[in-house]
Amino acid sequence: MSVFQNKAPLPEGIRVGTVLRIRGVVPDQAGRFYVNLLCSDDEGADAALHFNPRLDASEVVFNTKEEGKWGREERGRGIPFQRGQPFEVLLIATDDGYKTVVGDDEYLHFRHRVPPSRVRMVEVGGDVQLHSLKIF
Ligand code: GAL
Repeated sequence: MSVFQNKAPLPEGIRVGTVLRIRGVVPDQAGRFYVNLLCSDDEGADAALHFNPRLDASEVVFNTKEEGKWGREERGRGIPFQRGQPFEVLLIATDDGYKTVVGDDEYLHFRHRVPPSRVRMVEVGGDVQLHSLKIF
């Protein structure tokens, strides 16, 4: 399976109302993939959000990474992704966090731990076929 990686800059950071839309397909044999909101382009950059669908564990983990250390994991309810199926994820920045919408359904609302104004990059990688990554 090919492991895909893609990054896009967010030079102005993330503001309330910023929407990231990720469309793709989960490969048949997918293990895990991720969407990271990173504070710089450096190796080991802080992550204001790590959104991590784990098909191998039937869960979606949300976390932050600061100074190389993962924070406390949060999990959504169930896993709204299926191997072999297309998906659409919206990450919507609100005053107090990131609202996630998968397909037609609202998923976890992840409260800010790292100020969204620090975000500079969005990165999608792992076992995923990315079709589009749009920032509105
Ligand atoms: C770790 C995993 C990382 C990341 C982190 C999130 O166990 O190795 O890739 O997903 O959990 O808390």
